[in-house]
Amino acid sequence: MTGSRRPVRTVRVNLGTNSYDIYIGEYILPELGNYVQGLGVGRKIMVVTNPLVRGLYGQVAVDSLQQAGFEVVIGEVPDGERYKSLDSARMLYDIAFENGLDRKCAVLALGGGVIGDLAGFIAATYMRGVPFIQVPTTLLAQVDSSVGGKVAVNHPKGKNIIGAFYQPKMVFADINTLRTLADREFRAGMAEIIKYGIIWDREFFDFLGEEHLAIKKLKSAEISRVVETSCMIKAQVVEQDETEQGLRAILNFGHTFGHAYESLTGYNKYVHGEAVAIGMVSAAMTAVRLGAFTGEEGAAIRDMIRLYGLPDSFEHLEPADIIESMYHDKKVTAGKVRYILPETIGKVRIVIDIPHAVLFDVLNEQRK
Ligand SMILES: NC(=O)c1ccc[n+]([C@@H]2O[C@H](COP(=O)([O-])OP(=O)(O)OC[C@H]3O[C@@H](n4cnc5c(N)ncnc54)[C@H](O)[C@@H]3O)[C@@H](O)[C@H]2O)c1
Repeated sequence: MTGSRRPVRTVRVNLGTNSYDIYIGEYILPELGNYVQGLGVGRKIMVVTNPLVRGLYGQVAVDSLQQAGFEVVIGEVPDGERYKSLDSARMLYDIAFENGLDRKCAVLALGGGVIGDLAGFIAATYMRGVPFIQVPTTLLAQVDSSVGGKVAVNHPKGKNIIGAFYQPKMVFADINTLRTLADREFRAGMAEIIKYGIIWDREFFDFLGEEHLAIKKLKSAEISRVVETSCMIKAQVVEQDETEQGLRAILNFGHTFGHAYESLTGYNKYVHGEAVAIGMVSAAMTAVRLGAFTGEEGAAIRDMIRLYGLPDSFEHLEPADIIESMYHDKKVTAGKVRYILPETIGKVRIVIDIPHAVLFDVLNEQRK
């Protein structure tokens, strides 16, 4: 894509006919329309967003799309995880249908992971699939949920139960949008970023430590590198295993324990990234306890999590309940829990089932 006045980094996700580019830059939202033009989609676009994000960035995005010749239809859903639902989907299908969106018309997600997952679900299912564009505005969405094609809505029986693998035609991430993000949401995104360093790239992990002040201040060069490297790592994993038959499971590092912390606290004590941070420490401590990871590296993981203001321990939870909860995770297959444990910083392995005595020791130690 040419014509940009600002430096834009591009990460290619190579998935055969489902390949696409991720564009990362600062103050690039006003150029959105030009980029969408290059995709060859229909003239009408449905922008799915929520009132908060619409108030902050809706006008700039819509103006840019209109200037590029698109007719914009807004599909607004209230803010919050509970609106990632089939009810919201039905409301959006109605808007799409009433405004005459046809199979060439794109659905564009402007928001965080909730909006991205919901809009992607609409795009995957409306008229058996229409083009999908991701414009992620949270750190978590820019480095994780907008990349890789998992789209879903929640069901009363569980999170992300109804969904699909459906790749976007483009991901367009303006890091300037991170300036309005709440600190807690920023930290939650950092948990997934630290995860990428641990599972894939020691040098990146070290960079996160060395440049933490610049990263927290959203200094352009450092935060751009963080988003770009994270997208590259996720792209590399997804390219090798688009539909999670094997390798992609390593992206769940910290999540097996993390889901237990989230669900046992009713999803209202920790945001997802915080639960993952505690879970990454649990996994690291487990690996140390099994003699498969050094104590120094375990401490380095814990220090990094603290450096970014994330929690590294839990309180008011019973180890027995945590272990039991992990057996109810939707990733459990044939009654076996799959743990992702670090071998060294930069490399993890999948371990099937771990003796409960080991888990009890670790969880008792990690409890505040
Ligand atoms: N599809 C995937 O692969 C994948 C991966 C990880 C997480 N997820 C999903 O992502 C969701 C979580 O995403 P999230 O953490 O982005 O949460 P979110 O979408 O709820 O956004 C967090 C909050 O930030 C607000 N917000 C968004 N952009 C903002 C901005 N620029 N400035 C100020 N506020 C802004 C939102 O309105 C919301 O209140 C969950 O539903 C999770 O299941 C999906």
